[in-house]
Amino acid sequence: MSRACTILGIETSCDETSAAVVADGRDVRASLVSSQVDLHAKYGGIVPEIASRAHIERIGPIIEETLSQAGLTYADLDAIAVTVGPGLVGSLLIGVTAAKTLALTCGLPLVAVDHVEAHATSAALTTDPPPWPAVALVVSGGHTSLYLVRDFLDIELLGQTVDDAAGEAFDKVAAILELGYPGGPAIDRVARGGNPKAVRFPRGRTRSGPLNFSFSGLKTAVLYHVYGPGQKYGSVQHLTPSQVADIAASFQAALVQTLVKATLAAAEQTGVESVVVGGGVAANTALRAELQAACRRAGLNLHLTPPQYCTDNAAMTAALGYRLFLAGRTADLWLEPRSGLLRPPRRG
Ligand code: KG4
Ligand code: ZN
Repeated sequence: MSRACTILGIETSCDETSAAVVADGRDVRASLVSSQVDLHAKYGGIVPEIASRAHIERIGPIIEETLSQAGLTYADLDAIAVTVGPGLVGSLLIGVTAAKTLALTCGLPLVAVDHVEAHATSAALTTDPPPWPAVALVVSGGHTSLYLVRDFLDIELLGQTVDDAAGEAFDKVAAILELGYPGGPAIDRVARGGNPKAVRFPRGRTRSGPLNFSFSGLKTAVLYHVYGPGQKYGSVQHLTPSQVADIAASFQAALVQTLVKATLAAAEQTGVESVVVGGGVAANTALRAELQAACRRAGLNLHLTPPQYCTDNAAMTAALGYRLFLAGRTADLWLEPRSGLLRPPRRG
């Protein structure tokens, strides 16, 4: 049997410091994520300066611990894959600098991975063979997009949000409902005790195309529902916990229905038989359940990324890095982090 191709992945695009060792693009030997939620919670959102400083403190130890859990040394690695963007440049810089330093000192090839493409292909970590061609729904704190993934290295943008990302909408609505930070998991939890039909919030339609999204109207509708029409400031003191749960469930239902509808439209338009879903919001239990039901009805194969690989993690970085490495797409030591997409999205 030939020796496995072992990649060390490094991910620091936002507020999670993560390292992982993945063999042959699927076999996760170790995957560690150090969350900074506790550092940012009191500010109600991510403070970039604090995120960068925490990455600096955590990146070295987390890489060492990941290698130790995998029972490997740097000599066992074939390449280092790092998230180069999109994300917070100050955060990305720490991961990219660590990766470049290791590549130089250990004499290892360096691979630059686009974070959104890693989310789009993360479902392949647990599917064999890979599920391509597939429509990929990427729903995270910074992105909400639909892609046609023909292969790991052939990804075409079909549509995206024209304003807020789905995760951003979750976080902002959780702030309005005073449910704490990060908002997605809090709404997911509270909504389980609420009635999703209690309030009819607008479904995020846009005139810019059936595969594009818009969530800012939905967010404003929740704001006015809670504070009163036209009111930007207020509190939830006048609401009972059960009313808060109803609003959370109704908001979540509106957002999930929009995502599911567009995903199915994308599958129909492209004629593919598979759907994959990745990104932090893909951990949402209502979204997972609704997609399962809708894909079953439409006869589509659904591959949901396991929850631990939905939110930011370096295993998906290493997995896509492996495919780029095999294709000879390595980077040099001039690699710089980018706040935007690595490659301009290709539209069909
Ligand atoms: O992919 P991710 O970890 O980071 C980015 O690349 O942005 O996504 C983070 C987003 C946050 O907005 C968070 O609130 C949301 O994912 N999220 C969820 C859930 N878990 C995380 N949203 C809804 N339901 C969840 N269970
Ligand atoms: Zn992400």
